[in-house]
Amino acid sequence: MARQKQLRFAALQTMDNVVDGRRCRPDWFEQAFGLEQAVVIELGCGRGEHTLAQARRRPDRGCLGVDRNGARLWKGATAALDDGLTNAFFLRSAVEHLDSHIPPGRVDEIWIPFPDPLPKTRQARHRLVSRPFLERYRPLLRSGGAVHLKTDDVDLVDFAERAVRTVGGRLLGGADTRAGDEDETSVQTAYEKRYRGKGRTIYERQFCLV
Ligand SMILES: C[S@@+](CC[C@H](N)C(=O)[O-])C[C@H]1O[C@@H](n2cnc3c(N)ncnc32)[C@H](O)[C@@H]1O
Repeated sequence: MARQKQLRFAALQTMDNVVDGRRCRPDWFEQAFGLEQAVVIELGCGRGEHTLAQARRRPDRGCLGVDRNGARLWKGATAALDDGLTNAFFLRSAVEHLDSHIPPGRVDEIWIPFPDPLPKTRQARHRLVSRPFLERYRPLLRSGGAVHLKTDDVDLVDFAERAVRTVGGRLLGGADTRAGDEDETSVQTAYEKRYRGKGRTIYERQFCLV
């Protein structure tokens, strides 16, 4: 492993805003967010740009970025510490294990910005909007909680809409926009900026899962 990566992995273990799913305390979520604070999570957060932006905009909310890639998480966690954000945390874990780390009914919003589209049929069950994942998210959401998807991949949107219907959920809203006609207030990660720069349509969808 490259030396820089090793140093980042070692640093992750010592950062107060990072939780390692393989060795965390059972009450870490309560320690981070208490019993009542509204919590927004980002799945597959990469460098945590979306989580950081949400935490800056809404200091009253707890924001949690989840990713299995430690080197990327390190960037988000370091930026949060540098900015003095006390409401942003990062969980290093596969999304497959989310329900072991988050208590039921404690999440207000789930954001999935630009998930890996995994276009091959044999990869479908690994998409973060596939039926098995949606079934994992449902018990974590508070009543009225929603899932937000953003992607440039229209096939993934169709796939997600079908999966949501299969689990008994429904579409709450959405927008298809191109550079220039987007909601200026919405958070844009580097992926979104790159795709908008190439003139691609960005699809946003909100779902409830009940
Ligand atoms: C295309 S990147 C998007 C990053 C971020 N959402 C953004 O818009 O900048 C997808 C991220 O999802 C993470 N990821 C994919 N599947 C995952 C899984 N099952 N569990 C945890 N992380 C996952 C990858 O490690 C990667 O960092």
